[in-house]
Amino acid sequence: MVYFDSHCHLNDEAFASDLEETVAKAREAGLKAILVLGYDVISSRLAVEIASKYDICYAGVGIHPENYEGLSIDDIKQIEELSHNEKVIAIGEVGLDYHWKNDEETKANQKAFFIEQIKLANKLGLPLSIHARDASEDTFNILNEYRPTSGAVLHCYSGSVEMMERFAKLDLYFGFDGPLTYKNSIVPKECVKVINVDRLLVETDSPYLSPVPFRGKRNEPAYIPYIFNMMAELKGLTETELEEKLNANFSRLFHVKL
Ligand code: NI
Repeated sequence: MVYFDSHCHLNDEAFASDLEETVAKAREAGLKAILVLGYDVISSRLAVEIASKYDICYAGVGIHPENYEGLSIDDIKQIEELSHNEKVIAIGEVGLDYHWKNDEETKANQKAFFIEQIKLANKLGLPLSIHARDASEDTFNILNEYRPTSGAVLHCYSGSVEMMERFAKLDLYFGFDGPLTYKNSIVPKECVKVINVDRLLVETDSPYLSPVPFRGKRNEPAYIPYIFNMMAELKGLTETELEEKLNANFSRLFHVKL
């Protein structure tokens, strides 16, 4: 089996002491591509360094909606500079997050950073990895107005089935993670069943959101098969059938052959 992890954070300090082993373990598990996403300038730079060091690692660079404070729109130029590295295959993670703060000023700032980074992705011809939490409607409106011209994935999709069907009309992909394996996780399972398999991706978002049976422990790319197997079961496909579909989706969006 050949797998990928389309969204993780090997640049998180949780991997500082055993990055080498973590990548080796992922390789052993069959992963041929690991997309490491930045969430500010420093973590984006680190993502590029990791991607340069390990052949199976690739980088996404961007400023996460929770990290714009203390930055100006001008700082996106640093993201643009990092994006010129040949292992950078996406702009992300970027988007909107109204979970902790949702006053008008926060929303306006997050929207400005999001829009500017969509424009950057379009200018560079790169796909986007999008984080949207408690902000489905605004995310939809922005993507509807500023269409990503090189594709985009809504990573760790956590919205409703209805919202997903609206997003699907914008030609977006949907990434699913460890929560798909949780018993009480009804809506993500329903989403996976409903959406066309050509729109699906698997990701760990490690070090967060470990799948069963590792729930509560640090997550890592080598655990992708647990999420993949649950997705195969939900779609009623054999592992080989899903492997072929998902790998084609990953290659189509990120232009990386598996
Ligand atoms: Ni993430």
